[in-house]
Amino acid sequence: MIKPHGSDELNPLFVYDSAENDALQKEAEDLASIVVSSATAANAVMLGAGYFNPLTGYMNKADALSVAREMKTTSGLFWPTPVLNLVHDAGNIKAGDRIALKDPNVEDNPVLAVMDVEAIEEFTDDEMAMMSKEIYRAREGEVHPGVEAFNAQGKVCLSGPIKVLNFSYFLTEFPDTFRTAVEIRNEIKERGWNKVVAFQTRNPMHLAHEELCHMAMDRLGCDGLVIHMLLGKLKKGDIPAPVRDAAIRKMVELYFPPNSAMVTGYGFDMLYAGPKEAVLHAVFRQNMGATHFIVGRDHAGVGDHYGAFDAQEIFDKEVPAGAMEIEIFRADHTAWSKKLNKVVMMSEAPDHSKEDFVLLSGTKVREMLAQGIAPPKEFSRPEVAQILIDHYKNQS
Ligand code: ADX
Repeated sequence: MIKPHGSDELNPLFVYDSAENDALQKEAEDLASIVVSSATAANAVMLGAGYFNPLTGYMNKADALSVAREMKTTSGLFWPTPVLNLVHDAGNIKAGDRIALKDPNVEDNPVLAVMDVEAIEEFTDDEMAMMSKEIYRAREGEVHPGVEAFNAQGKVCLSGPIKVLNFSYFLTEFPDTFRTAVEIRNEIKERGWNKVVAFQTRNPMHLAHEELCHMAMDRLGCDGLVIHMLLGKLKKGDIPAPVRDAAIRKMVELYFPPNSAMVTGYGFDMLYAGPKEAVLHAVFRQNMGATHFIVGRDHAGVGDHYGAFDAQEIFDKEVPAGAMEIEIFRADHTAWSKKLNKVVMMSEAPDHSKEDFVLLSGTKVREMLAQGIAPPKEFSRPEVAQILIDHYKNQS
């Protein structure tokens, strides 16, 4: 099986031993505590679940700056984006303290993790600006939801190792879908899959997404597909996770051969960081045991901040050879061809003009759904469209 990133064995930071977990929980009651940002909580969940292997906690300033600039830590580990615990003010907390990190996303802010604070450092405004520029690569002068969320957290960086005590709201809200990297690795092993392609999504899967997965599986000769959806926080207007989950499950049930696809999810807030997020996505799919990862058009993009294939180019131009073992399946824009009566990669239909494809923008589709109009069958499976129409109906 493919090795995790940066180590031979996966080292999830969740405390599986229940006696130790209880003891830490008890200890945490008397520790100084902070309610962390949603991004910091999501980082804890990813670290706990093994997705951010081999990291042992939150990065210090030197590592964060080095990762933002060069995609590697000061010790040389390849890593695409800083993993931080940023606060506005550390209060009385000092380096050397053990503290409780409280969950901002669950009622009464229960303890999510215990952290040994090794350093408390402040980023300068220039360093914050450099990091957000390098991570998000946003178009100058334009609002970017990831940059806004990054800057809202504060500039004070608490670094050090953590032990994770639970998986926030993900296990309770998505018991059938949330999976740790450990669980996905185990399930891939149990199913006997050798070549496994992972599909990232934050959307309900329309026909183009579905066919993209079929194409990747066929062309790579995969035994299985892991649909791995983001279950964390999104920007306003994106479809909520429970609705996406239902739509994707229906699609897999009806349109994939039995036992060929796993429907799973992970607990992380969307960064909308396009190319850099695509690289992070690939790293954590390797950690969950996938051998291949699909990167299509405008992967993890938002608005028109990125070129359609920037998230593929970064793997060719910026990721050093051998930095990761997982391989990227680069997909061109997929769309329904009116001439061929099927979904194709547009570059593979050179005799087509734009009018020969059914191309609908996300905004257009949302407008149609909001009016109770199903998108055409060339765009969306009717059963998937129905779930989305019901969601929009309940909203109004
Ligand atoms: S993402 O933010 O999670 O990337 P989305 O769920 O829309 O958004 O996309 C999931 C994956 O499918 C990404 O790899 C994206 O590039 C790819 N993708 C989505 N739509 C298309 C399309 N029409 N053609 C090619 N790739 C696509």
